[in-house]
Amino acid sequence: MLVVGNWKMHGSKAENESRFGLLAARLADSPRVGAVVCVPFPYLAQAESALGASSVGLGVQDISAQATGAYTGEVSAAMAADFGCGYAIIGHSERRSNHAESASTIAMKAKRASEHGLVPIVCVGETLEEREAGRTALVVTTQVNEVLDLLPEAGPQNFVIAYEPLWAIGTGKSASGAEAQQVHACIRASLCGRAKRLKAVRVLYGGSVKASTAADLFRQPDIDGALVGGASLDAEEFVQICLAASGVTSAEA
Ligand code: 13P
Repeated sequence: MLVVGNWKMHGSKAENESRFGLLAARLADSPRVGAVVCVPFPYLAQAESALGASSVGLGVQDISAQATGAYTGEVSAAMAADFGCGYAIIGHSERRSNHAESASTIAMKAKRASEHGLVPIVCVGETLEEREAGRTALVVTTQVNEVLDLLPEAGPQNFVIAYEPLWAIGTGKSASGAEAQQVHACIRASLCGRAKRLKAVRVLYGGSVKASTAADLFRQPDIDGALVGGASLDAEEFVQICLAASGVTSAEA
């Protein structure tokens, strides 16, 4: 199980300090779940020093498709790795729509991440219109395959998928466990059809995940964790989601 917090463009040095402190202390003994936070770039140094010795992993929310050079404003995978990052969110729907990221750019970013030892967390998901038109399976499996075409070495250790239906992001309307499971099963079948070793690739669910809805999601056979936006900004809530993933109820924590 893997639970990843995507802080998006939130945080300040003062706020982060208490969040990091709580996460490091409360997640110290959760060996069955990997917890990762993806912070804004300016806070990587602060995150590295606060979490470096803890069991909480560090990631970025995006990286450049370029390796190095004259690319004003961009941050490379090598730089993220230099700050101790182990993960990079790639192709989040907010990047796809706000920054017009194409399938080839997203695949290239995933490749750059892999080249520098970062596990790409590749986001896929359908819009409400696509869902209503019955195109969900086609949309998400196409998005996965576009990246895998460029990553022949992808496997369970170095590749993660996050299924984030666009209609569930930031809306408070999470997919139900059963709804999400249907799509996760499709993604799993498509991965298996491509190569046997891809069967164990982790497929996370994202979209309005909260502590109160986490257990229903995590009990599904093809949901291997969560990518959490808003709820990850409340450190205690994020801890509760991680505990739900490790099968520990809040009463036991
Ligand atoms: P919310 O959890 O705020 O819906 O965001 C989901 C998301 O986009 C995580 O990457």
